[in-house]
Amino acid sequence: MKNFNLIDNPLVKRDVTILRSKETDTAAFRAALNRVSYSLAIELAKQFELTEIQVATPLEVTKGHKLKKQIVLVPVLRAGLSMVDAFLKMIPDAKVGHIGLQRDEKTLQPIDYYYKTPSHLDQSVTIVLDPMLATGGSAVASFNSLKKKGANNCILACLIAAPEGIKKMEEGHPDIPIYSASLDRELSNVGYILPGLGDAGDRTFGTF
Ligand code: PRP
Ligand code: URA
Repeated sequence: MKNFNLIDNPLVKRDVTILRSKETDTAAFRAALNRVSYSLAIELAKQFELTEIQVATPLEVTKGHKLKKQIVLVPVLRAGLSMVDAFLKMIPDAKVGHIGLQRDEKTLQPIDYYYKTPSHLDQSVTIVLDPMLATGGSAVASFNSLKKKGANNCILACLIAAPEGIKKMEEGHPDIPIYSASLDRELSNVGYILPGLGDAGDRTFGTF
């Protein structure tokens, strides 16, 4: 699992526990996912390259920094939407694309229904946001589409990852680092992450 980065932070562990609990209601679920997304943004930003600039303080000119590349956030609909706000708070000038994918409940294959991303992905850092990395089918399909559009510097941010999904990503996209708040045990025989948190989209949007 050489591309896998686990966020090691007591506040994140507390929030992952809130997210797992079946007692957590929709509002508390969204709030916890938002807090974890801040931690993911801060952790994966350690990969960003900087350009040195001059900045004038009220007293003198000194060295400063700006991000070298445009950041593009790409939430995978629906559940990925819940991570966008926190990332945009940390990276306010990020552009936002969207990829619509829905897993077929029987085959577990992702079916794509929407794709819209900004131009110049080849000059950007493209961050896919999706809370769940289960079989890895959705993540691999997302990066296949993004790479076809020129993305060459990509990161995956998720909340919970299964070993099966990490393996599939490492086979399909060995160049892409994965950041996750948790590494879970395995997939169930119907493709749910165990112990997991259930269906992230349904829990975020209250569509039970
Ligand atoms: C969930 C999740 C991921 C995908 C992960 O979405 O948000 O996109 O499943 O599963 P995989 O790794 O096996 O592909 P889902 O298809 O349930 O759609 P939703 O977000 O609209 O509920
Ligand atoms: N998608 C989810 O929302 N949850 C899982 O456990 C697996 C895929």
